Amino acid sequence: MNNFEFYCPTKVIFGKDTISELASNIDKSKKILMTYGGGSIKKNGVYDQVKQALAGYDVIEFGGIEPNPKYETLMKAVEIAKRENVDFLLAVGGGSTLDGTKFIAAASKYFGEKDAYDYFMVEQNPVVDALPLADVITLPATGSEMNNGGVISRIATDEKLAFHSPLLYPQFSIIDPQVTFSLPVKQTINGIVDTFVHVMEQYCTYEVNSPLQDSWALGILRTLIEEAPKVLANPNDYDARANIFWCATCGLNYWISVGVPQDWATHMIGHELTAFYGIDHGQSLAIVLPRLLKNQKISKSKKLAKLAREVFGVEESVDLKAADLAISEIENFFNSIGMKTKLSDYDIDANEAAEKIRARFSSRNVALGEKGNITADVAFDIVKEA
Ligand code: NZQ
Ligand code: ZN
Repeated sequence: MNNFEFYCPTKVIFGKDTISELASNIDKSKKILMTYGGGSIKKNGVYDQVKQALAGYDVIEFGGIEPNPKYETLMKAVEIAKRENVDFLLAVGGGSTLDGTKFIAAASKYFGEKDAYDYFMVEQNPVVDALPLADVITLPATGSEMNNGGVISRIATDEKLAFHSPLLYPQFSIIDPQVTFSLPVKQTINGIVDTFVHVMEQYCTYEVNSPLQDSWALGILRTLIEEAPKVLANPNDYDARANIFWCATCGLNYWISVGVPQDWATHMIGHELTAFYGIDHGQSLAIVLPRLLKNQKISKSKKLAKLAREVFGVEESVDLKAADLAISEIENFFNSIGMKTKLSDYDIDANEAAEKIRARFSSRNVALGEKGNITADVAFDIVKEA
C-alpha cells in the first residue's frame, strides 16, 4: 500500500427528516446565503423544510445555479456575498449547486486582479481563504457532500475544470434520502453511473496490495448493482434510496482512494464531452468508460479480473479473458438501467469529438491515467471508438 494522509472534517447527518437539524448546526449570528438550482427544491418541499428549519435566521437566497454550474452565473452570487457581507453558505440541491457554492466560497474571499475562473480553475492557484459552507444534498452522485472538490464550467470558453481545497469541505452535510423520491429517472440513472465510475477511477488501476480498499470499492459496486433495479422499479423505496445515497457519498469521500493509485481519465475525457456537447456528466462517463477500459485492458487486467469474479461472479481463470468479461458486464449493467453508452445515441460524431478532444489535450499537454500514458493521441483513440 502507498503512503497516505486522510482528512475529512465534514459532519454527516444522514436519515429521515434530518433537514430539521439545520438550526442546531448553524450559529444564529451568521448571515446565510442559501443557494439552489433551477427550482426542484420548491416543487418537492425541500425549500419549505429548509426555510422552516431556519426561521429566525438572517437568510438571503440565490437560485438558478444550473447543472454543470457556470462561472458566469456564480459570479453574480459572489457579488451578492461580498456586498451583503455574507458569512455562511448553505447549498440546497444536487452536486452542481454544491460545487457552485464551493466556488462562491472561494471567490468571495478572493480580491485579486485576475478573473476568478482563470485564477482557481485554469491556473489552479490554491484557495487561501473561503467562506464556510454546508449543504442539504438532494442528489446521490457526486460525493461533493463529503469531499473538497468542485467542477465549474465557463460558457465563454467551453471549459469545464475541477478544483480542490481543504477549505472547501462542507462543515456538515444533511442527507435525507426521502428528498430523492422526486428525482427524474434520468437523474437517478446518472447518479448511479457517476458513483459506479468514481469507484472505477479509484479501484481499477494496478495492484498495490490494498485488500481493504478493494473490498470497500467492490462492495459499493455490488450494492449499486443490487439496489439500482429496486429504485427504478419503486422510486419511493426508502431503503434502496438510502443505500444508493450512501454508496454515492462513500464513492467519493476518498476512503477507497487512500493508499492506492488513481486514474480519473474517464472523468477528464467526459468533462470535455460535456463542455463541447452539453451531455450530462453521468452520460459522458458511460460513453467513455467501456472504451477506456478496453484501451487500457492490459495494464488494468488484474483489477478488472478481480472485479469480474467478485462482482459479476465470472468463473474465468485467465485474467485477460476475465477482464474482457468485466468490461462487457459493466456496459450491460449501464444499458440494463437505461443508460446509453455510445456517442451516436446522442447524435454526436465520434470522429469530430475525438479530434476536438485531441486538439484540446495537445494544447494542455496532458498525460492522464494512473500511469500517465493517456496522452492526447490515446484519448483520440478512445473517443473515436465511442
Ligand atoms: O436545478 P434543480 O432544479 O435543483 O434540478 C436538478 C437538476 O436539474 C435536479 N435535481 C437535483 N435534486 C433533485 C432534482 N430534481 C428532483 N428532485 C431532487 N431531489 O437534477 C438535475 C441535475 O442536478 P445536478 O446537481 O447537476 O446533478 P449532479 O448531482 O449529478 O451534479 C453534477 C455536477 O457535479 C459535477 C459534475 O461534473 C456536474 O457538473 N461533479 C462533481 C464532483 C465533485 N464535486 O466531487 C465529482 C463528479 O465527478 C462530478 O464531476
Ligand atoms: Zn463524476
